[in-house]
Formats: sequence, C-alpha cells, structure tokens
Amino acid sequence: MSNMTKSLSILILFTFHNVLNGLPVSNDMLDNVNWEDNNILFDNSIDGEDNINISHLGPEAFGSPKNESGEAVAEWTEDSLMNPEEMGSYAEGDILVPRPLTRNGVRDQTSMWPNGIIPYVIEGYFNQQQRDMIRKAIADYHRLTCLRFVPYSGQKDYLTIQSARTGCWSSVGRLGGRQEVNLQIPGCVSKKGTVLHELLHAVGFMHEQSRPERDDFVKVVYSNIKPGSETNFRKADRANTNDFGVSYDYNSVMHYSEYAFSKNSKKTIEPKVTGVTLGQREGLSRGDVRKVNNMYNCKKEEPQNGWIGGVWSAIFGNQ
Ligand SMILES: *[C@@H]1O[C@H](CO)[C@@H](O)[C@H](O)[C@H]1NC(C)=O
Ligand SMILES: *[C@@H]1O[C@H](CO)[C@@H](O)[C@H](O)[C@H]1NC(C)=O
Ligand SMILES: [Zn+2]
Repeated sequence: MSNMTKSLSILILFTFHNVLNGLPVSNDMLDNVNWEDNNILFDNSIDGEDNINISHLGPEAFGSPKNESGEAVAEWTEDSLMNPEEMGSYAEGDILVPRPLTRNGVRDQTSMWPNGIIPYVIEGYFNQQQRDMIRKAIADYHRLTCLRFVPYSGQKDYLTIQSARTGCWSSVGRLGGRQEVNLQIPGCVSKKGTVLHELLHAVGFMHEQSRPERDDFVKVVYSNIKPGSETNFRKADRANTNDFGVSYDYNSVMHYSEYAFSKNSKKTIEPKVTGVTLGQREGLSRGDVRKVNNMYNCKKEEPQNGWIGGVWSAIFGNQ
C-alpha cells in the first residue's frame, strides 16, 4: 500500500470507529478541510433593524451576572447528566441581558447583526486549548454560514467574550453597544457545542425546546423539574417566533439535554420518538445551519458530501 492509501485507510477506519461509537469526527480532522469555497455569501443584505422579540423570557432575563451560577457551573464535569449552560440561574439557565428593564418592566426587542457581521474581542482569560475551542466554534460559523465574526476594531456594537465565574450565558441577539458572552472556564469551553450555543444566542436564537410547537415533539416532565425552575420550560409565543423553514430539531445545539433542571436525576424532557438524543454539544446540526442562513438571508450552499455532510449523515441520519 502506498503511504497515501495507508493514511487514507487509517483515516476512514478512525472515522468509522468514531461514528460507530456515536462520537463525532474530531475537530482537528474537520479543521484540515479547506472550507473556503467559492460560494456566494450574501445575495441580499439586511438592514440593521430586524428585530427579535424576546418578551417570552420574562423579567428574569434582566439582571446581573451571579456568583451562584458560577458555583454551579464549577461543579460541572464531562460526566454530568446535563450541559453546563443548563446549570445557571438565569432565564432558561443561560440567558442574561445585563441591562436595566424599560419603564414598563420589559424590554422586548433586540436585533439581528447587520449583514451578519459580528465584531468580537476575547477579553477573558483562556488558556491556549480553550482559545482554540472558541476559534473552532467561530471557524464552524465561517465554514457553514454567512456570519462573520470579525476582530473588534472600534465598532459601535460588539461582543466581548469573558471567562468570569458566573456560568455560561449570553443575551439573545444584538443589544447595541458592548455586549458580553460569558464562558466560565473550564466548564463552558470544554465542548465546542457550548461555545456554539452561547454564540447562537448572541446571533439571535432561543432554545429549541421553547418553540411553540414543542409539545408535539417532546414531553416535559414537570414532576422531575427542580422547584422554581419550571419557568425555564416556557414556550415562546407563536406570533413572535419564526422557524425559518426548519422543523423541530432534536439535534439542535440549542436543545436542552434530557436532564436539564432535574431535581432527581430523572428526565425532564423526553423525546416523543425513539432513536434521538437531546442536548448534543458536538456541533451545529443541519437545522441550526439552515436556520442561521435563512434568518440572515444567506445563500451559502449546504454541504451534502465531504466531511461535514458525511459527519452529519453519520451522526444525525437525514435529519
Ligand atoms: C412582543 O411580544 C409580546 C407578546 O406576544 C407582545 O405583547 C409585544 O407587543 C411584542 N413586542 C413588539 C415590539 O412587537
Ligand atoms: C461575587 O464574587 C466576586 C469575586 O469573588 C466578589 O467580588 C463579589 O462581591 C461577589 N458578589 C456577590 C453578589 O456575592
Ligand atoms: Zn442557552
């Protein structure tokens, strides 16, 4: 066997091994692929006024970062039943708008990022591996969507990525001005999906299980939810949500895990179909990518084959 055939067989075997074990192909392998294709990015731009109604989050979404969320996330390990972003005491666990409310007690609108351009700066303390995790998450957005995270250079509206001991949290959409995304170390930068998840909130997305039609797809088991956390399972108003043409997505990186806010290590959310796992934090699902691209009017072609297409098919089937 030539060396090249040999490395190729090893690569294929390794991929199969991982796929069979339900593991995604490693980030490093995906990183070796040249994703900068010739696809057109935007074929029409959006103005800066596209609004996102966040009223269903309620007043709990507004406040300050909390040490207690930091303590909870500090306990998280890769063996925990839930994801670290489901351990905070913010709205739905990880949504925080650290801004004052308006006079009538709500602030119900945020906006999209004009042209999908998101200036950002990493200001928290992250070691090299943790920085790489953030970099890989951003690289996935660049490969698969038209969003562009660009280094902050004095723009009016931008994200600052922090690492404080206050949990994993973000606002939903663009607030205007300097806006924090907090990724507590090490919990919130252990899995790429957690970084993708928090950034997807900042891009303008809510949790998948808060979709108005979710009861057709999952059963929320209220008797297993920690007292006081029931509001985290609220549904968004149909009038305020746009599914961007993507049906309910069990694979979404924005879906809670089955044990989110459990008081007794029993499931709080059960899918109504078999063969799906909720709460994956390995990568963006096909649906996540479609939703981002539809929301931001991006005509980027979805990879069918090649690495990401193959990985998706292997992990998620046709979903
Ligand atoms: C946001 O949604 C709420 C609840 O449906 C509604 O009362 C409110 O008017 C909406 N806000 C805007 C600005 O559309
Ligand atoms: C949270 O922790 C920080 C750092 O330990 C401390 O300075 C701050 O006072 C604490 N805040 C509260 C509300 O306890
Ligand atoms: Zn979240």
